[in-house]
Amino acid sequence: MLRTLLLLAARSPRCRDFVTRSPLTRGVVRRFVAGDTLDATLPVLRQLTADRHVTVDYLGEDITDAEQASRTVDAYTHLLTALGEHGLAPRAEVSVKLSALGLALPRDGAQLALDHARQICEAAEAVGTTVTVDMEDHTTTDATLDIVHQLRVDFPRTGAVLQAYLRRTEADCRDLAVPGSRVRLCKGAYDEPATVAYRDRAEVDRSYVRCLRILMDGPGYPMVATHDPRLLRIAAFLARSAGRSADSYEYQMLYGVRTDLQAALADRGERVRVYVPYGEQWYGYFMRRLAERPANTAFFARALFAG
Ligand code: FDA
Repeated sequence: MLRTLLLLAARSPRCRDFVTRSPLTRGVVRRFVAGDTLDATLPVLRQLTADRHVTVDYLGEDITDAEQASRTVDAYTHLLTALGEHGLAPRAEVSVKLSALGLALPRDGAQLALDHARQICEAAEAVGTTVTVDMEDHTTTDATLDIVHQLRVDFPRTGAVLQAYLRRTEADCRDLAVPGSRVRLCKGAYDEPATVAYRDRAEVDRSYVRCLRILMDGPGYPMVATHDPRLLRIAAFLARSAGRSADSYEYQMLYGVRTDLQAALADRGERVRVYVPYGEQWYGYFMRRLAERPANTAFFARALFAG
């Protein structure tokens, strides 16, 4: 119930104005968002890449005009150039949301998002790194996978994201478990109807295991995106059973979440990649993080109403 309310609020301009205007939210937001600007974020990236890898997300989604979309492309190009100049590119890639590149625009949105994503892939290739295309709500799954498929023709290392809560995902895993493919498997962060998604947590977990088994047994590169200790143990077991070496898959976690687990896995010689968001458009991302864990909401409410 609380999760659904928070995810509804994530899409509400009125809630966004209320939350983003309060100076009291800043401290809480900082836990999940590395900085407002690239300059503020670079030291965080430098520190994390000492023993981990990162995927950097320039925050923004659901843009409403083409100009905003091309500003997003400029921000990613600038980010990728900086990753190259600062020597971070070997351990840093970027994550991109197609709704920030124009996917939802009524006129030729999909073509615009593809052209923009292509420019970002070119900038990534120029500094020797990769792009992973985030997955948004289920109305965009087909369009997103189609664009990833097209990007992979010229940029074969482009990563896709699949969400275990969607009933279709096992089949998508089979399609994407092909040589060279990079697939991030997560549980899924949006409020989806029961017609397309498992709503029960245990069912989502079971789907996650079925999907992960397909990816681990396949010839691609699985990216295990979860903080769930039980799923992490199962992932290690599936990787061993499939005879995988430590460099043939990776764990991924969010900036500010279970940093203890991130460090422990990295210490054991596992490849760990941290998803690091930055930028001023943090509202939607932040609300999804609150929705994932009720304790975050209490913490946030205390900060918001404390004044
Ligand atoms: P679960 O929610 O069961 O959490 C397990 C444990 O992790 C909790 O008990 C708690 O300890 C900790 N935890 C999890 N979330 C927390 C939070 N917000 N604050 C504090 N503690 C928390 N989703 C999507 O729809 N599209 C996408 O493209 C991506 N991309 C993505 C990249 C990466 C690297 C990660 C790790 C996750 C995503 N996600 C995502 C989000 C994902 O779908 C999911 O919502 C979160 O990862 C939470 O699910 P867990 O698997 O961690 O399990």
